[in-house]
This record gives sequence, structure tokens and C-alpha cells, in this order.
Amino acid sequence: MSERFTAIQIMQDKPVIPVIVLNDVAHAVPMARALLAGGLRMLEITMRTSAALACMRAISKDVPQAIVGAGTVRCAADAEAAASAGARFFVSPGYTKDVGTACKEMRLPLLPGVATSSEIMMAQEDGLKQLKFFPAMQAGGIGMLKAWSGPFADIQFCPTGGVTLENAPQLLALPNVAVVGGTWLTPQDVMERGDWAKITEMAKEASSLSR
Ligand code: 3PG
Repeated sequence: MSERFTAIQIMQDKPVIPVIVLNDVAHAVPMARALLAGGLRMLEITMRTSAALACMRAISKDVPQAIVGAGTVRCAADAEAAASAGARFFVSPGYTKDVGTACKEMRLPLLPGVATSSEIMMAQEDGLKQLKFFPAMQAGGIGMLKAWSGPFADIQFCPTGGVTLENAPQLLALPNVAVVGGTWLTPQDVMERGDWAKITEMAKEASSLSR
């Protein structure tokens, strides 16, 4: 049985969770190794490509030090398929009770996406306190996180959407931001040309961000 992580442990591991869109299963293992070499092991593989489940299986089997997470989980069936492919945590763009219940039943952590106070309250009612703020920079960014720190002081956020190496430090400096997520570490063109050293370099920069 593989080690289980809580949502807090996933958020606190490193300052950045890479959000990875994989179109080609051949990229999965070298990409995971490159990120790991740069110090990142919590990897969110988005379920928005037909290769996603095969990529999760390949990484889980060949790169056991990486902790595979499934992103873009939109329904309970997505979460169940991802868990069967080796996912050990889930990230969803929004929150539904069905997704929350499925993850709870599998005893695997979910970072559900929220963009409004009502959505935070719904997730909170179901016992979730570690949330993804999505799409963060489009939906209010730093100002929104500062405003939420009053009424929702006990919630930790992972802002994702529009986050870059440049704006990540300001987000990570906020007391209610535990980690940020983004696709900037795994650009499609860099993966296409197999420049894994570049991915390791970007992962190293991301791992060394302070918070
Ligand atoms: C997503 O799920 O698409 C992410 O939030 C990524 O957003 P980004 O591409 O702006 O990092």
C-alpha cells in the first residue's frame, strides 16, 4: 500500500504544484523525472487529454518517488478512474458534493476549486479546508485572497490560473496561501523537443521560492 498524504501535507510539501497537460504518454516518465530532479514530487496530471490516465499509470509505475495527483477532476467517475491509474490526490476546478463524497470514500485528499465565498462555505460545510482558488488571477487574485483572510482565516488556498514565476512570490507571501499551482513549468514546446534539463531548471527555480 503506498503512503497516504493529507491535503495539508500535499500543500506544504513545496511552494509549487506543477499542473501538467500531457498529450503524449512518451513524455510522462521523463517529465516526472525532470520535475523530481528539480525538487518537486507532488505532480498534478490534468484529466483533460486522452493520454492522462496512461500517463498516471506510467509515472506511478516507473517513478515511484513522484506523488501522482489527478487534476481537472469534474465528477466522481473521473476521481475513481484516476485512483485506479495511481492518483493519490485530486484537484478539481470546482466543487460538487459528488466529487467530495467519492474522494472521501476512497480516503484520498481533494483540493477543490473555489472562486466565491459561497463555494468556500459549501466546501467548508463538507469538512474541506484546503482549497484551490481557480482561476486565481482572473477571479480577483491577491485582493481576493486578502479579503477572504478575514472571514475564512482557517482556510489555506492554492491559487492556480495565471500564476507565473514572477507573481508567485507575492501570492506565497500571503498568510492564507500555502502553495501555488501552474502550468508554466511544463510548456508544451519544451516537452515536444524533449528539453528535460530546461524543465528541471524551472522546477529548481520553483522549489526555491520562499513562503
Ligand atoms: C488549469 O487548471 O488550467 C490551471 O489552473 C492552469 O492555469 P495556468 O495555465 O494559468 O497555470
